[in-house]
Amino acid sequence: MVKIGCKNAKLFFTRPLIKRKSKSAWCKISVNRINWSSSLTVAAGFWPKEIIIRENKRLKEKPANPMTNPVLEEQDERIKEKLRNIDNKIMVMSGKGGVGKSTVSINLAIGLSLENYYVGLLDVDLHGPNVPKMLGVEKGELQQRPDGTVGPVYYSPNLKFMSIEPLLPTRDSAVIWRGPLKTSAIRQFVYEIEWGKLDYLIIDAPPGTGDEPMTVAQTIPDAYAIVVTTPQEVSLLDVRKSISFCKQINMPILGIVENMSGMICPHCGKAIDIFKKGGGEKLAKELDIPFLGRIPVDPRVVTTGDAGRPIIASYPNSHTADAFQKIGRNVINVTQALSEENKEKKEESNT
Ligand SMILES: Nc1ncnc2c1ncn2[C@@H]1O[C@H](COP(=O)(O)OP(=O)(O)OP(=O)(O)O)[C@@H](O)[C@H]1O
Ligand SMILES: [Mg+2]
Repeated sequence: MVKIGCKNAKLFFTRPLIKRKSKSAWCKISVNRINWSSSLTVAAGFWPKEIIIRENKRLKEKPANPMTNPVLEEQDERIKEKLRNIDNKIMVMSGKGGVGKSTVSINLAIGLSLENYYVGLLDVDLHGPNVPKMLGVEKGELQQRPDGTVGPVYYSPNLKFMSIEPLLPTRDSAVIWRGPLKTSAIRQFVYEIEWGKLDYLIIDAPPGTGDEPMTVAQTIPDAYAIVVTTPQEVSLLDVRKSISFCKQINMPILGIVENMSGMICPHCGKAIDIFKKGGGEKLAKELDIPFLGRIPVDPRVVTTGDAGRPIIASYPNSHTADAFQKIGRNVINVTQALSEENKEKKEESNT
């Protein structure tokens, strides 16, 4: 018995051939399936120079790379295809919780949609999904399409969103997931959801630099970041970590937003610096990052957020709505400048 192995469709002998009858001796053996290290019995004294195998498609295929996963590769392709339709992807993040990431994401998304852009809002805060509640579409229905794909929930004709919330059995259901499940859910939010053509995809991240922002960075490699902070030292300290995270993973930072920055007194209309002011702007200068603007503390942000009628839509003429609109316009300017820059770089590299 001669032991043979199979590499692509070529057979080779694992034992040197001695006793070859003649140089031109051929042995035609039909083998439909042959695995690595299959064994064949070859008639004694008839040592073949070559064994010809009947054509077998499986043998013609590239040998599978054990380091790649065909399911993930297929998903990656679908992710790329979906992302090609989205011009600007922006993750709103912060090292600290409760500084207003969701508030900024929502009001920014609405602000951009009011400027007639097509906007998507993706809530990747899987443990505390606030977007549906703050948009007032808690019971929003996902659109099941005839081709089996799922459409996001519509807030307005040019603003749609996706969150884990509409998928949970009850309002109080907790998502008790570790990293791999979270990664898988966020990837699905991109490749399984029919976002269509978008000018902006705003991604509301949970606090910190854990699984969710990491997954966004890996899944959406051309995403930008907006970092939200409040003016206090403790918040600024955590925000520095977010900035260093972005630098380490090569995610360009569009700018810093300073939330809860001063307050307009409802009685006299004067600005009061209840939580200090200017810390975010100072940090932006120090780190040479654009400062996108500041939003004052405004009790109506809380009431409108809880009622699902974001302030930019319910008090469009207020000082706070104006502050959000200014941030939106700065975001438009910075993204347009960056896309011009990228175009020029591409043209230069093509010539
Ligand atoms: N400028 C503001 N003035 C007054 N209240 C605000 C302001 N910005 C945010 N808030 C309130 O602060 C609370 C936290 O805001 P928000 O949920 O947006 O923070 P977050 O950073 O997304 O929190 P988390 O880290 O839990 O995701 C909310 O009740 C919101 O209404
Ligand atoms: Mg939030």
